[in-house]
Amino acid sequence: MGKCPDCGEFGTLLEEHEGSRAGVDRSFGAGDQPTAITEVNADVEERVVTGLLEFDRVLGGGIIPGSVILIGGEPGIGKSTLLLQVGGMLASDGHRVLYVSGEESAKQTKLRGERLGIDSESLLIYPETCLEEIMEKAEYLKPPIMMVDSVQTVFSQELDATPGTVSQLREVTSRLINLAKGLDITVFLVGHVTKEGILAGPKLLEHMVDTVLYFEGEGTLSFRILRAAKNRFGSTNEIGVFEMRGEGLRDVNNPSELFLAERPLDVSGSVVVAPMEGTRPLLLELQALVTSSNLANPRRMATGLDTSRVSLLVAILEKKLGLNLQNEDIFLNVAGGTRIEEPAADLGVATAIASSFKDQPVDPHTVVIGEVGLAGEVRAVPHMEARLKEARKLGFKRCIIP
Ligand code: TYD
Ligand code: MG
Repeated sequence: MGKCPDCGEFGTLLEEHEGSRAGVDRSFGAGDQPTAITEVNADVEERVVTGLLEFDRVLGGGIIPGSVILIGGEPGIGKSTLLLQVGGMLASDGHRVLYVSGEESAKQTKLRGERLGIDSESLLIYPETCLEEIMEKAEYLKPPIMMVDSVQTVFSQELDATPGTVSQLREVTSRLINLAKGLDITVFLVGHVTKEGILAGPKLLEHMVDTVLYFEGEGTLSFRILRAAKNRFGSTNEIGVFEMRGEGLRDVNNPSELFLAERPLDVSGSVVVAPMEGTRPLLLELQALVTSSNLANPRRMATGLDTSRVSLLVAILEKKLGLNLQNEDIFLNVAGGTRIEEPAADLGVATAIASSFKDQPVDPHTVVIGEVGLAGEVRAVPHMEARLKEARKLGFKRCIIP
């Protein structure tokens, strides 16, 4: 079958052989006996600090030896740069790092390393994609830290599936997890999030590894956000903010600086809102421009927002606040090119429109959160605590909430 009868997509069906070991996770427990929970040895292992502050923060204060960390993100976002930089910092601290490069030659990696100022004999570059070879070298060298860039390029000879397919990914990952747990090697895996998304991407491996970090960025902007989607050794509330520069990533310890620098202050029509992006909040700038129209039907244009929702909010502003918007063109834009799908931005949209209409700026240190009902009431929204935390993390002083 070429087309999946379930989801209707082409090319999403994969053959898996019965009896194949792919995906079998025997990462630990071999030979262990059931033990009373009170008797289990739970000495906290010392974390290894990388020195890249935002990176350590997202991990929960450093690397736990023997853990497996998956770093996901779209191609070109900076995953290799981040890992090589972290590898360089660990190596100059005296930790031996084995960097397995499946996408770039040793020379390319060296050139990148030069830009990043890496100069340490403890960082070993190893261009290889065959899992069995990689395992052999790792078992021989026993580096405390190993980086695999990317997991999609690595294949096991024991399977005849091509690299990057579901069965290869599962097999490669589960054997690398075995290696990590067995030899106490911290393994970093790079996983590309492809346009097609979920299939054969990092999502597939999330349940297997200890920690999943996603590296994200907005189009042309130079800042990048690292978020933990899962962390067996820390919270997932922290985000790390970086700036991509000519000489690599710089951690931004006060992200509000960077964030506030991107937007005009004390200008009417600009409001900061805190929509959820999946399970995490994201602070975004909303801009409204309200100008008198000479059209019979004034324009209502919204980029990144649902236009009918905006019309509804305009109607509420007219009816409940008596704002005379009938003869005004209204333009709305979510800065940075993202989309907001959530009613939690309603109050922000209404505030932006009112601010531009009255030509009165909104205090730039304020975040506006809330759903607006048809009666003009402001309604509660879920995940308020996470939104407020994010606002505080990014340096905001006041939130207007339901
Ligand atoms: P890369 O780490 O190769 O992305 P990924 O591994 O996620 O595919 O980063 C790619 C981009 O980063 C590339 O377009 C150039 C930019 N970059 C810098 O701006 N400064 C630098 O020092 C480096 C190494 C890359
Ligand atoms: Mg890369």
